[in-house]
Amino acid sequence: MRTVLSNKETQKLQHIAIIMDGNGRWAAKRGMPRSLGHKKGAERVKEVVQAAGELGVKYLTLFAFSTENWQRSPDEVNDLMDLLRQYLKSEITELQENGVRIMFIGEREMLPADIRALMKQLEVETQNNKKLTVCIALSYGSRQEIVHAARKLATLAKRGDIKPDEIDTKVFADMLYTQEIPDPDLVIRTSGEQRLSNYLLWQIAYAELYFSEVLWPDFDRAELEKIIENYNKRERRYGKA
Ligand code: IPE
Ligand code: IPE
Ligand code: MG
Repeated sequence: MRTVLSNKETQKLQHIAIIMDGNGRWAAKRGMPRSLGHKKGAERVKEVVQAAGELGVKYLTLFAFSTENWQRSPDEVNDLMDLLRQYLKSEITELQENGVRIMFIGEREMLPADIRALMKQLEVETQNNKKLTVCIALSYGSRQEIVHAARKLATLAKRGDIKPDEIDTKVFADMLYTQEIPDPDLVIRTSGEQRLSNYLLWQIAYAELYFSEVLWPDFDRAELEKIIENYNKRERRYGKA
């Protein structure tokens, strides 16, 4: 197995976060409906999870559906929910075999009850897996997450369980959905768009960003390895000279 991860402490690549974008354009280029682009995109997730595990990445956070994506047409939202159902039902065996732990971040209350149940089941069944943690951002919006954290802290303060002076970046981060996982080292967005679209705004304060021209349904292990090689050549400074 080829490993492209650097051993240098400051360059450690523990956590990759991906904005999986471009399914609709991939389909449009072929005269196909958007739903087919989403289907192809869902198939790509498998390969990338497998590759990330083999390359020694410990955390992979995938943006699957944003809070803002609820504004798409009901048909498209339904197609996406159906694909999600299928994915959650069909992947369990392979995830277990590969030692993958699954977690979800986002506003679960917005999702259909059967999907919420499948999510819970996957989280419980994979909770002891240690090789790779895959965190799926579903109905996720970063500003909403931050507001949610602020509300939790305000409630604690009101009850007298925390003093306002005790709130620091560590305490705040512990109120986010991502409290259990380290911040991303690298954010990849596919499809050539250069924006963050309300993704992990707090967590990526010091992440390296990479914008790939590849549309998500065409993204593969080779592209991932190319991006990791690019990351390995960068110098992360964290404000130091
Ligand atoms: C990403 O592909 C998938 C989701 C946002 C759910 P898009 O559906 O955004 O594809 P484009 O950006 O229209 O090509
Ligand atoms: C971001 O992509 C959300 C996901 C990939 C799930 P969008 O396609 O929704 O983002 P915008 O609308 O182009 O910013
Ligand atoms: Mg898009």
